[in-house]
Amino acid sequence: MAYNGSNTCRIRSKMLTDTQISHFYTHGFILMKNPFGEACMQQIDQADSSNRKKNNWSNDFNKLACQFLTVGELVLEMVEQPKLIEMAKQLLDCDEVHIGACGFGEALKIISQDGRPFQQVDWHSDGGPEVKQVSFRTALDCHHSGNAPLRVLPGSHLRLKAEVWEELIQLEIASGQHQDIPSISFVKHPAEVEIMLDPRWTLVWTPSCWHATGIKTTIGLRRAIGWNYFPRGGRTRDAAAVKHIFSNQWESWSLQRQKLWGLLD
Ligand SMILES: [Fe+2]
Repeated sequence: MAYNGSNTCRIRSKMLTDTQISHFYTHGFILMKNPFGEACMQQIDQADSSNRKKNNWSNDFNKLACQFLTVGELVLEMVEQPKLIEMAKQLLDCDEVHIGACGFGEALKIISQDGRPFQQVDWHSDGGPEVKQVSFRTALDCHHSGNAPLRVLPGSHLRLKAEVWEELIQLEIASGQHQDIPSISFVKHPAEVEIMLDPRWTLVWTPSCWHATGIKTTIGLRRAIGWNYFPRGGRTRDAAAVKHIFSNQWESWSLQRQKLWGLLD
């Protein structure tokens, strides 16, 4: 692990403006300048290089969450910064949040292992209008047009899942490529926004917003680091992974840290 205990990952930007908050509510995302800075991203990159050989994670845990947590104290402190937590509370309009999911690496590679013809993620939402969450996502490599950029359908986090799905299926059928009703969709939606995430920017969004990716046509890495804050009672998907990776430490963490990672009831 490359972290040397310096504060190079302390965020530098100010809090969100009212118009940014309004954009998040309405469209499901905002982009802000990478608040962590180049030195921080380099430290994560170095930690990744030394941890990359380790990929024999137990299937009991989310692989990307394990890769995230293995970076160690550096990412824990990054996620726990009071300014970020304040932003999450502002966006979720609540007075308490915890981290319910985290990930680091190449999600696209993992998802594409199901035999799909291209390295591409199909349309889905990780939640629905009832799931309140805010996710911070920063690319370590540029997710340009040939590197499977994220595609989001603005405002779809406010709509019923069945309604959005029907819309996508109708667009699929209208493309003339199907004999039967498709069970998976990559179709271009006229209202989608392609986000070519560059390491200089951070995406702040709700994964309840429908999303897919473009096709990966270039070689090279497509890594991202991200985590999701939830209001009280929200998901704790990676609590077991936190206990597993920090098995010798988590019980001695402050109650505040245990609570923030969703380890306490
Ligand atoms: Fe997703």
